[in-house]
Amino acid sequence: MNPTRVETSGHSPLQNLEEWEDFVRDRYPEPATPADKPFQASDPNKKKEEFRDYEADARPTVREFYRQNHKQQTYEFAKAKRKEFLTLDRLQMGIWEAAEYLNTLVDDSDPDTDLSQLQHLLQTAEDIRRDGHPRWFILAGFIHDLGKILCLWGEPQWAVVGDTFPTGCGYSDKIVFPHFFADNPDSSEPRYQTPLGIYKEGCGLDRVQLSWGHDEYIYHVAKNYLPEPALYMLRYHSFYPWHREGEYHYLTNGHDREMLEWVNKFNPYDLYTKNHEKPDVDQLRPFYENLIAEFFPAKVNW
Ligand SMILES: [Fe+2]
Ligand SMILES: [Fe+2]
Repeated sequence: MNPTRVETSGHSPLQNLEEWEDFVRDRYPEPATPADKPFQASDPNKKKEEFRDYEADARPTVREFYRQNHKQQTYEFAKAKRKEFLTLDRLQMGIWEAAEYLNTLVDDSDPDTDLSQLQHLLQTAEDIRRDGHPRWFILAGFIHDLGKILCLWGEPQWAVVGDTFPTGCGYSDKIVFPHFFADNPDSSEPRYQTPLGIYKEGCGLDRVQLSWGHDEYIYHVAKNYLPEPALYMLRYHSFYPWHREGEYHYLTNGHDREMLEWVNKFNPYDLYTKNHEKPDVDQLRPFYENLIAEFFPAKVNW
């Protein structure tokens, strides 16, 4: 497959998708002792000087990316994209094949220091494997970003990546760059602007329409094949306002709160595994092909 170069343009301000992830990692630095200090939504003991102004320090490309994302991810937009993509009738493709397909996404990253999409997936999965987690957990790590193939189908960056947030209800001020929501048409829609908006308290996240992106897409591709905790990892891994900021609890139900533990278990593998050696794709391939075959049919609907 020929590499698809994604041009940096008004439509796609980021030089590469990792620019967004680098920003998120910067915003949520790795806790000093992750083993004995599980993630906390907001640390009440955090001293004032530990707060950094992430918005002021963000690269102009990242700022522009969030501006576009917050302005255009409306309730109706997210609904329309679900309708457009969740029919899963575009093509049939195996999971490894999809990973290779995603790897044809070449953006302006530095090939000497940056990981390819496939290497990020393998690195995430390998770290999960190294820690002795179940096979489905390793597989969730391997597939979690496959939804980024939406970029290869011409979708703009702001509709593929970015921290996700609920549409149809008020915006939390813990979402990064909250003032950009002023330009979102939903901001002038009173029924979308109460804390609950169109939802009932405790309705459960399954009923909440998050902003559209690669998480929701891969969840639907995988939902018949993986256990529930893996599906939560896929579906909510970019929902930082929930899993890292502790927001929107009034929309969750008991099941969501149980599953949050797994989403939080997954997050460090996604965010903090980018600094070591590049995995050897050829050497790892047989293990992953076996693992995929254990859970998925040879071809999956995309
Ligand atoms: Fe992701
Ligand atoms: Fe990722």
